[in-house]
Amino acid sequence: MVNVAIFSSGSGSNAEALIRYFQNHPTIRIKLLIFNRKEAGVKTKAELLGIETQYFSKSEFESRPKLVVDFLKNESIDFILLAGFLLLVPKEIVESFPERILNIHPALLPAHGGKGMYGINVHREVRRSGAKSTGMSIHLVDLEFDKGKILFQSACPVWETDSESDIAARVLKLEHLHYSLVAEQYIKSIKEK
Ligand code: GAR
Repeated sequence: MVNVAIFSSGSGSNAEALIRYFQNHPTIRIKLLIFNRKEAGVKTKAELLGIETQYFSKSEFESRPKLVVDFLKNESIDFILLAGFLLLVPKEIVESFPERILNIHPALLPAHGGKGMYGINVHREVRRSGAKSTGMSIHLVDLEFDKGKILFQSACPVWETDSESDIAARVLKLEHLHYSLVAEQYIKSIKEK
């Protein structure tokens, strides 16, 4: 079995889609969820689906990343999927899981990425920019926000009448549709190397 950890900070709809997709998967198992905000809805979602959860605070991530690495190694984690995880992944974690951390971003990178570009902020920027389309990107995680190699993108239109939340809803549908499949294909491709 390939063991996967999800990192999430928020409401957890992508985490839920991933957990459901990999339930009963023959070779890939979502082993645990790591979250960094105690009130995050994702914790309850994961627990209801029978997934072990573990909290690390923002300051533990930032000043004691080895604590997180040791925990992941102890749990025999092979891959990490960020799903609405809003902290920069510390160097120690990135270097302990080379090319084994994926992120999903709600825009067509390199546009509308970088520090502070998360959730509704991204869609607000898309609307402000006058872009006629947006979408989602799945990419490898490196030491900067939203800069790693892009593995997959999918686009959707932006209509003049769209509010930020209209755009968010359209993009989120694409995220739920694609993240599990792309993660599955990527993990298989690395394991077969
Ligand atoms: C998703 O749209 C995800 O792409 C975005 O946060 C949302 C989390 O929603 N991530 C970022 O903006 C990262 N820069 P969810 O908690 O319902 O999955």
